[in-house]
Amino acid sequence: MPAAQHPDQSRTYYVTTPIYYVNDKPHIGHCYSTLLADVAARLARLAGRDVFFLTGTDEHAEKVVTSAAAHGVTPIEWADRNAAAFQEAFRFFDLSFEDFIRTTQRRHIEKVEAYIRRLQATGAIYQGDYEGWWDESQEEYLTETTAREANFKSPVSKKPLVRRREKNYFFKLSAYEAKLLAHIEAHPGFIQPDARRNEVVGRIRQGLQDVPISRAAEPGSTPWGILMPDDPQHRVYVWIDALFNYLSAVDTPERRKYWPAEVHLLGKDILWFHAVIWPCMLMALGEPLPRAVYAHSWWIREGQKMSKSLGNFLDFPTLRGYAQAFSLDALRWFLLTQGPAGATDADFAHARFVESYNADLANGVGNAASRVSNMIDKYFDGACPDPKGKTNHAGHDWPALANTAVETALAKFEALDLAGAMEAGVTLVRRVDGYINATEPFKIAKDPARKDELGVILYHCAEAIRIAALILSPAMPTKMADVLSRFGAPDLSAARLGRDGAWGGLQPGVRVVKGEALFPRADADAPPPEPIGKED
Ligand code: MSP
Repeated sequence: MPAAQHPDQSRTYYVTTPIYYVNDKPHIGHCYSTLLADVAARLARLAGRDVFFLTGTDEHAEKVVTSAAAHGVTPIEWADRNAAAFQEAFRFFDLSFEDFIRTTQRRHIEKVEAYIRRLQATGAIYQGDYEGWWDESQEEYLTETTAREANFKSPVSKKPLVRRREKNYFFKLSAYEAKLLAHIEAHPGFIQPDARRNEVVGRIRQGLQDVPISRAAEPGSTPWGILMPDDPQHRVYVWIDALFNYLSAVDTPERRKYWPAEVHLLGKDILWFHAVIWPCMLMALGEPLPRAVYAHSWWIREGQKMSKSLGNFLDFPTLRGYAQAFSLDALRWFLLTQGPAGATDADFAHARFVESYNADLANGVGNAASRVSNMIDKYFDGACPDPKGKTNHAGHDWPALANTAVETALAKFEALDLAGAMEAGVTLVRRVDGYINATEPFKIAKDPARKDELGVILYHCAEAIRIAALILSPAMPTKMADVLSRFGAPDLSAARLGRDGAWGGLQPGVRVVKGEALFPRADADAPPPEPIGKED
């Protein structure tokens, strides 16, 4: 494992999201996990890392077969249709993934077969009988204790659990208990946040049992799933098939350099698979482990858990409504900075949305950018003034302030605190506001003898906003590209925080353009936006 290095060194950064059940319609949960990965990927690119961002769909679930039949199409037609809906939703959210993997793709299936053979060759897989409590909605067996605690109902769908017995191939999970615990102990950042890590460690200490990794193919049923090598009576269990995607996607000569992943991002409900089963499978395969498995919590809505029965799901039409009313970047901003990244759930309440929008964006970044560009337009005909070599003014050491913002953003990014990284940009903008209030350039403008001083102030403001926009761009790529272009900065795609975030990049004389309000103030009393479009 590489020692701590300067973030500007071009090491690889592989970030993944869960692959989503292709049976579902894209909703906030899918968009949220993928947005976190997107912001991490964009920050990593800004930090100069060689990034690979992967998302995709998990397609071999049993319910795909039933849903397809109910819609009168074949399973693969159904999967194609829904995988396309996910891709469209993610494009709508401006998510910059390098690849979208589907578990029905040949490239994945062939690798899974090879991994299973490798596991068999090392003796990590054996055949046996399994009987347990099966959660049909989640396609997973629950342990006796969990099943009892949940009153023999699915903790997610609340449907009764089914007692199921089958001949299975098993993975010797129990053999890796000590090794996994030792790894977690030696790498405190391996499972994050800390509260989740403690939960997982507590459960591992209760003892790991071997897990089934196949299920019997029912005679006469539609063939769907990956067959166990040399035993077509059995299919690879959908969760095992799915976990392998993280490796199969980069298991080519050109992409091998990306493994091990920097971080697997996922929701708390699927942490066990990622923090326990997957790492043990990797150990059995002799592969290095991902550097971090990060589990976020859940969105709830207006204080209530979202559920189909309540009909209060934050679905795509609702999200589209917000994006249209406030801009997509404002929606991304809210999800990222007010979301359940830590160990507690977060509320998507309309009032919270408006409050954060007005505070950070309308009255914050947007207002500062407009004020400064308007003054440069008015007092300097839109030509960026010259700071006359000054950097430290009215108690503000601007290069130091900007440098602190950049370094803080990079450090928070390394610690996977994405909202914290963005906060560094907002803090810099607030410094600009404070500076304007303290120096009152609009008053100085009245005295022609003080033109140079006015230029010094406005240069500092403009340059600080340019750097803040660069820091904020991973969360708000479109709006911040707009700010940067208004302040004469070139296109964002090749930007590097280390180089372009240094003080003094803004050249005196470049054209500063005033424009439309970036984030018009929102009326807190107006009703939430109407959903747009239908789900299908
Ligand atoms: N297919 C599996 C994952 C396999 S990964 C090898 C799966 N798919 S899923 O379609 O159910 O998507 C799950 C993701 O959405 C999880 O990360 C889950 O936490 C997230 N969310 C689902 N509802 C959510 C909220 N209400 N809030 C935030 N995220 C939630 O599980």
